[in-house]
Amino acid sequence: MATIVSLINMKGGVGKSTITVNLAWHFAAYYNWLMKILVVDLDPQFNASQYLFGVDRYEKILEDDNPTIWDIFEQFTVTPAGRSTIVDTYDTILKVASIRGGGEIDLIPSRLEMALSLKNPGQKARLLEKALQKVKNDYDLILIDCAPTESILTEAAYLASNYLLVPVRPEFLSTIGLPLLVNSMEDFRAQYDDHDLKLAGIVFNAISDYSPEEIRSREEVKKLAKKNGWYVFSAEIKYSRSYPKGAREGKPIFRTSYSRTDQAIRFRKFAEEFAERVNL
Ligand SMILES: Nc1ncnc2c1ncn2[C@@H]1O[C@H](COP(=O)(O)OP(=O)(O)OP(=O)(O)O)[C@@H](O)[C@H]1O
Ligand SMILES: [Mg+2]
Repeated sequence: MATIVSLINMKGGVGKSTITVNLAWHFAAYYNWLMKILVVDLDPQFNASQYLFGVDRYEKILEDDNPTIWDIFEQFTVTPAGRSTIVDTYDTILKVASIRGGGEIDLIPSRLEMALSLKNPGQKARLLEKALQKVKNDYDLILIDCAPTESILTEAAYLASNYLLVPVRPEFLSTIGLPLLVNSMEDFRAQYDDHDLKLAGIVFNAISDYSPEEIRSREEVKKLAKKNGWYVFSAEIKYSRSYPKGAREGKPIFRTSYSRTDQAIRFRKFAEEFAERVNL
């Protein structure tokens, strides 16, 4: 049965989608894993869908009107004909890649209309958990890429997950999303005290030059982590142009042309530590 991990931070642009996609590729395609991975794009901005498929292929998927994560949240919507449609989770799943030896990446894509679900949250928080319950046995790892704002979707992600992974960029204002996340998790735990949600840890992303600002931000984050008893990954993900390049091309860092091997090795180190933290 799959371990389910949500990538979350209430601050935007910290690398949630980039890390989701690269972790998926790592565990599906790296020779000693070859796992079956499902990525759930829970962000109305659909970055993970674009990163996995490449921008052009993603456009085609929208044209084909494939059911998306939106349909999972809107499944009880009453149609003009007066019927409520129920979407099957399997119908929302698209194949991204099959790797020789058994590794697989599948995706439940997102689309902009997802934002509409936020306007009418109703009793939607448990729908994701329910939808994933159905397909959980088909995967080893399910990664949920969250949006950077607190909403019904955050609650849905928490309810569906065993672990949270929190990427942080060591830069000015990096600590801004963390107190929000602390509150958000505390609210959640107060409301659902029967749900065991663990924190896999905080990972520093896009580190570059150990500038005074970077060092200072890192210290601030570490202090906050210590106060809350949060694990901070010892592996850190380096800044590399290969990440945005891969995003454009629909490739992981290790398949991007000109990607430096040491960057790919850095990411692999983090992925191995992640595997230990979430008991893969
Ligand atoms: N390690 C890295 N090195 C260089 N660029 C990176 C790195 N990680 C992420 N980026 C780039 O930073 C930008 C933001 O990354 P990403 O989209 O993964 O963040 P996010 O947290 O998912 O953002 P959002 O909150 O909008 O969902 C992207 O252009 C991405 O390519
Ligand atoms: Mg994102």
